[in-house]
Amino acid sequence: MKILLTGGCGFIGSNFVRFALGAGGDLSIVNLDALTYSGNPENLADLGDDNRYRFVKGDIRDLDLMAELIGECDAVVHMAAESHVDRSIIDARPFIQTNVLGTQTLLDALRRADPGNDKRFVHVSTDEVYGSLPLDRPDLLFTEDTPTDPKSPYAASKAASDFLVRAAVHTFGVNACITNCSNNFGPYQFPEKVIPLFVTNLIEGKKVPLYGDGLNVRDWLHVDDHCEAILAVLERGERGRTYNIGGNNERSNIDLTHQILAIMGFGDEMIQPVKDRPGHDRRYAIDAGRIERELGWTPSRSAWPLALRETIAWYKDNPQWWRRVKSGAYRAYYEQQYGSKA
Ligand code: NAD
Ligand code: TYD
Repeated sequence: MKILLTGGCGFIGSNFVRFALGAGGDLSIVNLDALTYSGNPENLADLGDDNRYRFVKGDIRDLDLMAELIGECDAVVHMAAESHVDRSIIDARPFIQTNVLGTQTLLDALRRADPGNDKRFVHVSTDEVYGSLPLDRPDLLFTEDTPTDPKSPYAASKAASDFLVRAAVHTFGVNACITNCSNNFGPYQFPEKVIPLFVTNLIEGKKVPLYGDGLNVRDWLHVDDHCEAILAVLERGERGRTYNIGGNNERSNIDLTHQILAIMGFGDEMIQPVKDRPGHDRRYAIDAGRIERELGWTPSRSAWPLALRETIAWYKDNPQWWRRVKSGAYRAYYEQQYGSKA
């Protein structure tokens, strides 16, 4: 199977390339990526010249290019996105451009290149489309039937893209599935997201900016578990179906912070409480029962503290990767995001 992957130079995309090619099947990947601030070809430097892999620099909003590439491939895995909530609060427009207009352009290209609706299209989305769960109801989890109720501009743009994919299935019979996944962690994550941000700050001797009361909860999944789930949906998912993906690994941010500090040998003095994120979702938690029952997937690489310890070790072992990433434009973003918050 030849897969067109969008956004393959980002965090999940680059791990997906490595995971899928390493899985041993008869797979090849064309990676289409615009190389925005979070897309980094160095994330795939270790691939060398594997002839099952090809990179194309381009934008998912380029209809002709997308139709041409889809025409060459058997399936599409769509991950290209603007992905960071805090950036969407600073400026939502790039999120509408890529996540909404870009997804619609891909769907249009798919219909042009595949009028018979033979090619599987996996739309990689997020649990954030479901909104926020209360802290005092640990029994509540997001299921695929939870109403879409996004609270941040990022989540709203992803929810819009999910609706566009569903509309294409309903109206045109497009062979698409949607995945809604919880927070990922692992190597090559852009250090604006909380785990790589905190770990690399500590390596640099800087404090970690904890938002608000630190009680917000996320369900943490190792990126390789996510990649395995996407492959399962690609190969065995039912047309038009949505699959939730989660790690069954809920942690409050303060608990996460304490675990990182303990593993890295620091104390609470390295926590810098900062002003809360506006509209900060309280809790995300996933019921992944459907993908387990129907496709036989369960997370096997996400258990803490081991998976967290290994991820921290990766950032310690690869300072050249994140030091380059944390230079240049990143510094201006960091100043804008955190400069006046303490
Ligand atoms: P990321 O920001 O690390 O990577 C996004 C990639 O998309 C980058 O390589 C970027 O260059 C590329 N891109 C952006 N705009 C583009 C455009 N217009 N055309 C072509 N390429 C473009 O993001 P990530 O964390 O790897 O997330 C990947 C996908 O998974 C996103 O769709 C995100 O919504 C979803 N997701 C992420 C998480 C998470 O915890 N990171 C959880 C659930 C779902
Ligand atoms: P993040 O990694 O941005 O993912 P998301 O907002 O998509 O869940 O943030 C994870 C949690 O960590 C979220 O509750 C916000 C919190 N957080 C901080 O406390 N400090 C920070 O500097 C960042 C980036 C996030």
